[in-house]
Amino acid sequence: MSAPQELEGRSIVLGLTGGIACYKAAELTRELVRAGARVQVVMTEAATQFIGVVTMHALSNRPVYTSAWDARPDNSMAHIELSRAADAVLVAPASADFIAQLAQGRGGDLLSLLCLARPIERCPLFLAPAMNREMWAHPATQRNLAQAVADGARVFGPGSGDQACGEVGDGRMLEALELRDELVAAFQPRHLAGRSLLVTAGPTFEAIDPVRGITNLSSGKMGFAIARAAADAGASVTLVAGPVHLPTPRAVRRIDVTSAREMFDAVMAEAPRHQLFVATAAVADWRPAAPNGHKIKKDGKQAVPSFQLVENPDILATVAHLPAGQRPWCVGFAAETEDLARHARAKLERKGVALIVGNLGPATFGRDDNQLLLVDAAGERALPAADKLTLARELVREIAQRMPK
Ligand code: C5P
Repeated sequence: MSAPQELEGRSIVLGLTGGIACYKAAELTRELVRAGARVQVVMTEAATQFIGVVTMHALSNRPVYTSAWDARPDNSMAHIELSRAADAVLVAPASADFIAQLAQGRGGDLLSLLCLARPIERCPLFLAPAMNREMWAHPATQRNLAQAVADGARVFGPGSGDQACGEVGDGRMLEALELRDELVAAFQPRHLAGRSLLVTAGPTFEAIDPVRGITNLSSGKMGFAIARAAADAGASVTLVAGPVHLPTPRAVRRIDVTSAREMFDAVMAEAPRHQLFVATAAVADWRPAAPNGHKIKKDGKQAVPSFQLVENPDILATVAHLPAGQRPWCVGFAAETEDLARHARAKLERKGVALIVGNLGPATFGRDDNQLLLVDAAGERALPAADKLTLARELVREIAQRMPK
C-alpha cells in the first residue's frame, strides 16, 4: 500500500522570499505536489535572483506569480484571488526583511499583500525562516517574529547547522521533508492536545555474546507511526525505540535502547510522567541467562554451545499495575498468528489494560500496511487494511475517545 496522499485536496500558496534556501523550495514543491497538494508559487523580486521562475513553474505545474500588477486574474487583484483560493500560505524561505514587513502589516509586493489579505480565521500563515545566524539572533528579527506570531503566524524551525555564508548556527531553513511533515501535521485534528504519550516500538535484542543475539522481525513501523500520529494530534510524545533504522518523527523525543531490560528501565523511569502508554514493541520474552563476555568460538573441538534462558520482565503489565496517580492509561498490542479476537481478549484481562490492539504478526512485520482489531471491555472494532500511518491516526482518535477526560 503506497504512502497516503496527506495533502490531497489542499491548496497551498508557497511563497518564496530572498535567500539561498530558495534552492530547497524546489524540492519542497515536489514533495507537496507528491503529497497531493495544489501548489501555487508566489515569488518576491529577491527570490527570483536565487531560483528561476521556470523551475518553480515546472515543478508546481502552475504559472508562478511575481507581481501585484499581474493582470491574469479576472479582476486584476492577484492578492485577493490567490489568498481566497488557499487553505494555507507557507513562506519558505522567509527572510528577515519579509518577516519585518509582516510585523508592520506592509504590502509592498504581491506576497506580503496576500499574507495581509488572507482570511485570517480560515487560512493559516506558516513561516520557515532562513537567514544567517546573526540576522536570526538580532533583536529586531526576534521582535518582528514575535509580532508576526502574535498576529497569527506559525513558525516552522529554523534548524541549526552549516550556513551558506560559512558560519555555523541557528537560522537554517528546515529540509523539504521536514517542512512537508510540519504542514501535514498542521492540518490534523488535535485529538490529544495537552496529553502526554509514552510509546515503545521495535524489537529488542538479547545478547548471547558481544556479536550475537536473539531478536525478532518487528520493524518498529507501527510504533513510529503511532508516535508521529499522536504528536501531530497535539500530544507530547516520548518514544522508547528498540534497535531499528527509522527516522525520528517530528516533535517526538526518542530514547534508544537495545535489550528488554533497558527498555523496561527507560519505560519505568518515564511512565509516571505520562498520561498514556502504548506498548507496540515486540519485546523478547526470554534472554540468555549469562551472556558470554567474549565471542563464542567455533574451533571444531568444542560441542555446539547451549545456553539457559530466563524470562524478561513484562513491561506493559508492570506499568498497568503501577499505583494510581503514577499509572498512565495503558494500551497493549497483540501480534498473533490466528484467532485474533480470542487471544486479544485474553491479553486484555491478563495484562490488566484498558485496550488491546490485535494484528496478525507475520502478515504485517516489516510492511507499510496493516489491519487492526480493537478489543476492550465494551466490545470489538475492526480498522480495515490501510497504510500504518492512516491506521495510527485512526487509532489515536479511538484512544482519545476512550481515555478518561
Ligand atoms: O502476550 P505478549 O506478552 O506478547 O503481549 C504483547 C503486548 O505486551 C505488547 O503490547 C507488548 O509491547 C507488551 N510486552 C511488554 N513486555 C514484554 C512482553 C510484551 O511490554 N516483556
